[in-house]
Amino acid sequence: MSNIEKTSVVSGFYKLSIEKRREFVSQFAQLTEEDTKIFTSSLDITTADRMIENVFGTFELPLGLAMNFLINGKDYLIPMATEESSVVAAASNAAKIARIKGGFSATCSQPLMIGQLQLLHVNDVASAAQSILKHKEQLLKLANSQDKILVDFGGGAKDLEVRILDSSLGPMIVTHLVVDVRDAMGANAVNTMCEALAPMLEEISGGKVRLKILSNLADKRLVKAIAIFDKEKMGGDHVVDAFLESYVLASIDPYRAATHNKGIMNGIDALIIATGNDFRAIESGAHAYAARNGHYTSLTSYYKNKDGDLVGEIELPMAVGVVGGAANMHPKAKLCRKILGIKTAQQLAEIVASLGLAQNFAAVFALSTVGIQKGHMSLHAKNIAVMAGAKGDEIEKLADKLIVDGKIKLDYAKDLLEKQRKKAR
Ligand code: MEV
Repeated sequence: MSNIEKTSVVSGFYKLSIEKRREFVSQFAQLTEEDTKIFTSSLDITTADRMIENVFGTFELPLGLAMNFLINGKDYLIPMATEESSVVAAASNAAKIARIKGGFSATCSQPLMIGQLQLLHVNDVASAAQSILKHKEQLLKLANSQDKILVDFGGGAKDLEVRILDSSLGPMIVTHLVVDVRDAMGANAVNTMCEALAPMLEEISGGKVRLKILSNLADKRLVKAIAIFDKEKMGGDHVVDAFLESYVLASIDPYRAATHNKGIMNGIDALIIATGNDFRAIESGAHAYAARNGHYTSLTSYYKNKDGDLVGEIELPMAVGVVGGAANMHPKAKLCRKILGIKTAQQLAEIVASLGLAQNFAAVFALSTVGIQKGHMSLHAKNIAVMAGAKGDEIEKLADKLIVDGKIKLDYAKDLLEKQRKKAR
């Protein structure tokens, strides 16, 4: 094994050519020649046509690598699919600071998803609820008969819970089927089971089942990550204090919490997309979880430890899969899993949570110190330079000048480019 395979820390990785970056990731993740071809090809149209309806093309996003991640003692290169500049660099910087004190520690619960069956028009909800619970074993057996493969892998329907909710229609019974979905996201397995249970529930209760669908508030499938951010590297005690002052607003105010959590999802969604997972499911689960106590708040929490370092924690539902759906069909999603070197949904969840924490730390750190615009400036200036017509070496040169002059504007860039070209003649 070469050194390259052992660490995700590469100084100046961003300065390498795209070819060199590909070489590095290929060695790190021991990719085959076949794998590396996937970097350069887009999703083939026949596969795309099997994935959704009315296909007429494919849509590309930049795929970047977050560096420096040490999670549960192992180095990871994290592929991120995102259109937003600075996100990948920010996550990498946060991971670099976190690794000084040992990186991220992440843990995950069992992969338990919830399916809901909404039962209406029941005469006596209390005794119907009792009857449902009395038939729990039969109901679980029926659910498990729908997915023998999942059961063979140790998963399947494990529990049944009954809730009585008041509504404008009167009281209704909502039955929760708790399913261990193993390495799948689980929506298909859970929905199939719920649909199969509906007739039996109606028979037991004398009511009518209306909705039968998975809940995206996957609060039995939680992931947690924690990291210590070195105070010296952050710039000292006053910076840690400034960070904590900024964080407090997200903990008490939904207006700030929404933006704070958006920053978390900048990282999380990028990895969720890169691995072919359902980012809407993760988003809705995350935000519902953030409001679980009746008050929308931050998904992360921060405090100072006895050494004065900053400790960050994140906890959220994480319904991700490494089998089934787009995760299986999309060649780049498979490649991204190979780069991560993961086999299970739980491993993926732990990386996702660590990345979310890193992303959030990076944003709040920047906001508490230099502000967020500085980080955005460099790529923005390059984009303006390209829009002004700069080519090759001209781009970097023009972008640098735009930053120095503090005028990242298209008209100004065009004038400067003309002057630079005249000078070069
Ligand atoms: C921008 O995409 C994300 C941030 O607004 C997050 C935050 O404010 O914490 C920078």
